[in-house]
Amino acid sequence: MRIVDLRSDTVTLPTPAMRQAMFDAELGDDVMGEDPTVNRLEAMAAERLGKEAAVYVPSGTMANLVCLLSHCARGEEAIMGHMAHTFLFEAGGSAAVGSIHPRTVPNQIDGTLDLDDVEAAIRDPNNAHYPRTRLICLENTHNRCSGAVLTPPYMAQVRTLANRYDLKIHLDGARIFNAATALGVTAAALTRDVDSVSFCLSKGLSAPVGSLVCGSAEFVWEARRQRKVLGGGMRQAGVLAAAGIVALETMVDRLAEDHANARRLAEGLAPLPGIVLDPARIQTNIVIFDLAPGAPPAAGVVAGMAAHGVKMGVVGPRRIRAVTHYGIGTDDIDQALAAASVVLEESRA
Ligand SMILES: Cc1ncc(COP(=O)(O)O)c(C=O)c1O
Repeated sequence: MRIVDLRSDTVTLPTPAMRQAMFDAELGDDVMGEDPTVNRLEAMAAERLGKEAAVYVPSGTMANLVCLLSHCARGEEAIMGHMAHTFLFEAGGSAAVGSIHPRTVPNQIDGTLDLDDVEAAIRDPNNAHYPRTRLICLENTHNRCSGAVLTPPYMAQVRTLANRYDLKIHLDGARIFNAATALGVTAAALTRDVDSVSFCLSKGLSAPVGSLVCGSAEFVWEARRQRKVLGGGMRQAGVLAAAGIVALETMVDRLAEDHANARRLAEGLAPLPGIVLDPARIQTNIVIFDLAPGAPPAAGVVAGMAAHGVKMGVVGPRRIRAVTHYGIGTDDIDQALAAASVVLEESRA
């Protein structure tokens, strides 16, 4: 049976061109700044994101942590959405390692933070009772908001607010190229208004390892130091970065295919009995849907689907996530829809 793995776009394997580039990569000691392949990847990333500089780190989690540690001192506060990946799924790293105080405000269904909520969360710096607000964190695309995209006008509004209170903005852009593709804009148009941005090579772009942190030269120098603190300085890392270069060169333009597949999946799932899903909300490659009262719980549906060779993720007692990516074609989506139909029909029998 063919296995259709929709649990995450992190399951993607490197392309043959990536493996060849890894084999051929010119290498040096990157902690000494001497790996030409890493240097090339960092320069490409900075250019694509419209920033002065970039630093290569092992993971998206480390990328976000390095940024928070670079922006905030002990006891300072970072405002973020209650469904932010940084808040939910990064092991509390900014608090554990940096003593940074997370302050959550509600994520709206479209991944945004309401500007009034953000403003209300900003502390009075003249009141000694409060931690100092230093940073606003955003996420684009927004993982737990079903891959929703934040637009350039929204980013500009957050910038205006941040400037009024002298705050910095960090963007978790793990899937920034998905957002840019969905909106038909450059990634740089989505990062113009932020002080730092992280993005991942190892999700929809299919590279095996690595993320980049981009910002001003001064910021990236501090991020490089924080990477060292965390033990993330790697030596002949060009062997990994080489795949990242291929990812940026060859895998961005095909993301539209993943978005079309996600839309096909959502449109096929929505009419099935027990599924609550508005396909119009699916903007990129993440499809999150709910199970209505009366339908089996998410764990039961996911186990049933797995028996038909289709893997999805349980993200709540009645909530399931499916992610499209390189290697998933329309036939796979149709296999997933057929499996979902059987499982949900069986549960009604
Ligand atoms: C939005 C977002 N940010 C950060 C990360 C962390 O990336 P990594 O798994 O490489 O640490 C993820 C991982 O899925 C993510 O979805």
